[in-house]
Parts: sequence; C-alpha cells; structure tokens
Amino acid sequence: MFDRKQFEIDKRSNAVAQNKDEGLRKLALDFVVQSDRYHYAYQWTWLGLPIVQLPADILATQELIWDAKPDLIIETGIAWGGSIVMYASLLELLGNGEVIGIDRVLPQHNREAMEQYSFSQRITLLEGSSTDPAIIDVVKAKIKPGMKVMVLLDSNHTHDHVLDELRLYGPMVTPGQWLVVSDTIVEDIPPQTHRPRPWGPGNNPKTAMYEYLRETDRFEEDEYINGKLLMTFTPNGFLRCVK
Ligand SMILES: C[S@@+](CC[C@H](N)C(=O)[O-])C[C@H]1O[C@@H](n2cnc3c(N)ncnc32)[C@H](O)[C@@H]1O
Repeated sequence: MFDRKQFEIDKRSNAVAQNKDEGLRKLALDFVVQSDRYHYAYQWTWLGLPIVQLPADILATQELIWDAKPDLIIETGIAWGGSIVMYASLLELLGNGEVIGIDRVLPQHNREAMEQYSFSQRITLLEGSSTDPAIIDVVKAKIKPGMKVMVLLDSNHTHDHVLDELRLYGPMVTPGQWLVVSDTIVEDIPPQTHRPRPWGPGNNPKTAMYEYLRETDRFEEDEYINGKLLMTFTPNGFLRCVK
C-alpha cells in the first residue's frame, strides 16, 4: 500500500505500453482533432491568463520544470502569456530561475497582464521574431556560464521557421534539460481547414525536428514522457538534452 517506488515503476511501464497501443493512440488523436473544432486548447488558463495548450502538455511541462529545475526557461511564442506565467510561477515556488518570452506581437495589455504577478521580476519579455539576430543576441547575453537552460519552441510552426529556431536555440539547451518542439501534431492530422495556416503535413515542427535530429546527437526522444501524453499537441516533441 502506497509503495511510491513500485508506483513509479508501474506508471512508467504503463506509459511506455500505452504508447504502443495503436487503438488507444487513435482514440487520443481523434479526441484532439474533434475537440479542436471547438478550440479546446483555448479553454484553459494558468493563474488567470489563457494558456493555449492541452492539459496533458501543461502537466508534462510542469513535471519537467519541477524535476529539471532550470535556471533559465526560454519560450518562443507567448500569445496571452499563460505559459510564461506558468513557468515563472513554478520557478517562484522553486525559489530560483528566470523566464524569457519572445513574441513577434506583444500588445501592451498582454505585457501588463504578465507583469501583475508578485513574481513578475522573473519574466523578461522580448518583442520581435524569435529568429531575429538582435533578439538572439539579447537572449544569449542572458545566459551565464553554468546556467541550466530549457527551451520551448511554440511560435510560427512552419518547417523552415522551426528549423531555424532549432539551430539557434538548440545549442542553448544544457545537458539534463529539455527542448520542447510544440505542435508536432500538425504532421499527424489532416490539414486544418477550419483554421487555415501556412503549415500542414510535410511542413511543420515535426518535420523540422527530425531534420534537426539528423544534424545533432545532443537530444533524445523520451519514451516515458512521449508515451504518457496521449492527448497532446506535441507527440514526440519532448526532447531530453543528453550531452
Ligand atoms: C501558439 S501561440 C503561443 C502559445 C503560448 N506558448 C501558450 O502556451 O499559451 C503562437 C505565438 O507565436 C507568435 N509568433 C508567430 N510567429 C513568430 C515569430 N516569428 N517569432 C516569435 N513569435 C512568433 C504568435 O504571435 C503567437 O502569439
């Protein structure tokens, strides 16, 4: 009863096993596709701000942050700010760390909404394209020797943009931390006619991720995290930095 060690062993083996269950994975994918007709991912908030993610992805990211305890979290793609505030609030609980958020569009009201929290001093917001050399210079200047750095890519989801981001931000991630390539699901679902986008099957974060993984051996897919997500926008997109 309440044997935590055994609980963890069982949990991991179930997560890996369920990922091989084609029927269950199809059910999960169907859920994501069908619920997206109602913008299911728009229906959640973190401490009051919209967070444009699925609940499983939010929980998984919380687990990564709590376990890996990064000194710096960099996210491209802020939107309403819920994800940035989530990372900063967790770092506040951990008592250490900063968040850099980058978005091409950063309306003043969104900026103010993110600055209302007691821990907002942990957040730096940058307006501009995530691949703009001037933005990259500012981000690099924030990284001090010995810092543990985690990166989440959630901006423009075209192959070319994400590949550029991977090449620019991938080297910033430090061993033991994570590189999260969001919206890899675009490769696995039919083109989204209800929300036309410049990305789709063959041109998306997953295709960029696999091209990048052919260029570097610093990252590995994590079968436990990827196995347990199921209802996710980010299948196979949680990469562990191993060297
Ligand atoms: C999916 S939303 C981000 C959602 C957010 N991470 C969350 O979890 O709530 C994508 C964001 O990327 C931004 N974006 C699009 N192209 C960009 C670019 N080239 N550089 C930076 N941000 C970009 C958009 O303005 C939008 O706010």
